[in-house]
Amino acid sequence: MSTSISKLSDLLSEKIRNTNQVIEENLISKETAIIGDIASHLINSGGKRVRPLLTLTVSELFDYQGDKDTVLAAAIEYIHSATLLHDDVIDRSQKRRGLKTANIIWTNKYSVLVGDFLFSRAFQLMVRTGSLRIMRTLSDASAIISQGEILQVGIEKRLDASKEDYLKVIKGKTSALFSAACQAGAEITKASDSQIEALRKYGECIGTSFQLIDDRLDYLGNEKQMGKNKGNDFFEKKITLPIIHAYEKSSKAEKKVIREIFQKPNSNHDDLNIFLEIMEKKKSLLFTKNQATIWTERSINALKILENSKIKALLIELAEEILDRAS
Ligand code: IPE
Ligand code: IPE
Ligand code: MG
Ligand code: MG
Repeated sequence: MSTSISKLSDLLSEKIRNTNQVIEENLISKETAIIGDIASHLINSGGKRVRPLLTLTVSELFDYQGDKDTVLAAAIEYIHSATLLHDDVIDRSQKRRGLKTANIIWTNKYSVLVGDFLFSRAFQLMVRTGSLRIMRTLSDASAIISQGEILQVGIEKRLDASKEDYLKVIKGKTSALFSAACQAGAEITKASDSQIEALRKYGECIGTSFQLIDDRLDYLGNEKQMGKNKGNDFFEKKITLPIIHAYEKSSKAEKKVIREIFQKPNSNHDDLNIFLEIMEKKKSLLFTKNQATIWTERSINALKILENSKIKALLIELAEEILDRAS
């Protein structure tokens, strides 16, 4: 865990405890025990909980005094969990958080349905905040996340996809929830419109940086630390920035090699190694990290209008640490 996350977790320990309690209490469904089995398999397997932490941090930044931030934070982790259940079906992933994925243990059908259940639970929790504004922010974000995942299916195996196409995908599938987590955390407080906008922007930019690093880690991360299988994006022919960059910078002959690998129904580790060599030559993973650095800088810039404080400094630290994360 990064140091900013542990510092923030210490600072907000009571709020986090309450959030975790809300998360725990709402997993159970008496009539359909399998929901609890699947949802707790995922939720209790050690996610970083960075999105709810952001919500709590932002509400603390604006000195929130009530207890609705913890319900809001729990709703956000539910939305995240729902997207992971769906995402692992789409990506045919076999491992998450160091464990077999729900789709492997319980089948795709159950994963999709429990994902839907968690989305619905998230909305039930949101209603408890009593704020129409928050409900709008989170329901907008949920729609945008789905659109991002749908756009991603649209560019599957398309080596000619542009960086702009890719950016649209990740802004939807990942940045939208980071952004909503920060925005809603501010909306629950007395923050001004420009302060809320600063946090919305901060969240959007760290979310983009976070996904760029995730896509890089898929090629060079440590499986144990990540808790996910390395190379999954490659084997699924998922179009991410490292691939787009490598293909764009390749010679005609290299492009042909990449295309042939991509047309294979089942590529193997040798194919991955050939591809990794091309990426190394084109410095595509470094390019991806540099792009993430730009988004991190943008996120820090967004906070400029805020007064300096300990919490603001930790938000900056968190944005910087995303670049070096290993999990
Ligand atoms: C995984 O998110 C999905 C992406 C947006 C890359 P996290 O890396 O936050 O996953 P957990 O919750 O910590 O497992
Ligand atoms: C993030 O994309 C998916 C969501 C935002 C749901 P990935 O597919 O890269 O996430 P991981 O690598 O499976 O965690
Ligand atoms: Mg995935
Ligand atoms: Mg990934």
